[in-house]
Amino acid sequence: MIIAIDGPAGAGKSTVARSLAAELGYRYLDTGAMYRALTWLACERSVDPENGVALAELGRANPIDFDSAGHTEIGGIDVTEEIRRPEVDRVVSPVSRQPEVRELMRERQRELAALGDSVIEGRDIGRVVVPGAEVKVYLVADEAVRAGRRLAERPGSVAETLAAEMHRRDDADAPQMLPAPDAVHIDTTNLRVEEVVAKIETLVTEKLSSRR
Ligand code: DC
Repeated sequence: MIIAIDGPAGAGKSTVARSLAAELGYRYLDTGAMYRALTWLACERSVDPENGVALAELGRANPIDFDSAGHTEIGGIDVTEEIRRPEVDRVVSPVSRQPEVRELMRERQRELAALGDSVIEGRDIGRVVVPGAEVKVYLVADEAVRAGRRLAERPGSVAETLAAEMHRRDDADAPQMLPAPDAVHIDTTNLRVEEVVAKIETLVTEKLSSRR
C-alpha cells in the first residue's frame, strides 16, 4: 500500500510520516529531501537555480538515494545535515519549480515507491506522483503553529526570519501544492503526533478491510 502525505512546511508531514512508517513497518520516503539534495549540489557546483535543463542534467548524473538508516545521498555523498541549512531553504523553491527537475524527481520517486509498502511525503504525491495511492492525506495547520514547529527544528534561528521565510516559500510552492481531490484533510494545529498517526492508521485499516 502507498500512503501519500502532502501539505505545506510545518504541517507535521515529516514527523507524522516517519512515525506512521515505523508503526506499520513501511518504507518512508521524504521527497522534499530529494529536492533539497539537488538544490544543495546545485549550490556547490554554482548551477543557476532557474536553469531547469542544467539542473536535470546535474540530477541525472548524480542520482539520489536513501541508505538503510534513512540518510539522504546524492551522487554517493551523504547530505542529510547539509540539506536542512537556511541556504537550501532559500533556493529550493526555484529549483523545485523547474519542470525538468520535477519530471526527473517524479520518475525517481515512482521507482522508489514501486519497491513496496511506503509512506511518501511531499507536496504533489497524491495528485501527481502516485495518484493511485490508496490512502491520501493533506495535512494543514495554522501559520503560527507551523512557524513554531520550524523554529523548534532550527534551534538558534530568529523566529521572525523563519516565519517570513516560510511565508515566502508557501507562496513560491503554491503551484505544486494542490491537494488531491480525494485527499482526507487533517488539521494538525491542536493535535499531538500520535493523534494524527492514529487518524491515518484508521484510514489504512478501512482501506485494508475494503480490499477483502
Ligand atoms: O518538505 P520540505 O520543506 O523538505 O520541501 C522542500 C522543498 O521542496 C519545498 O519548498 C517544496 C519542494 N517540494 C516539492 O516541490 N514537491 C515535493 N513533492 C516535495 C517538496
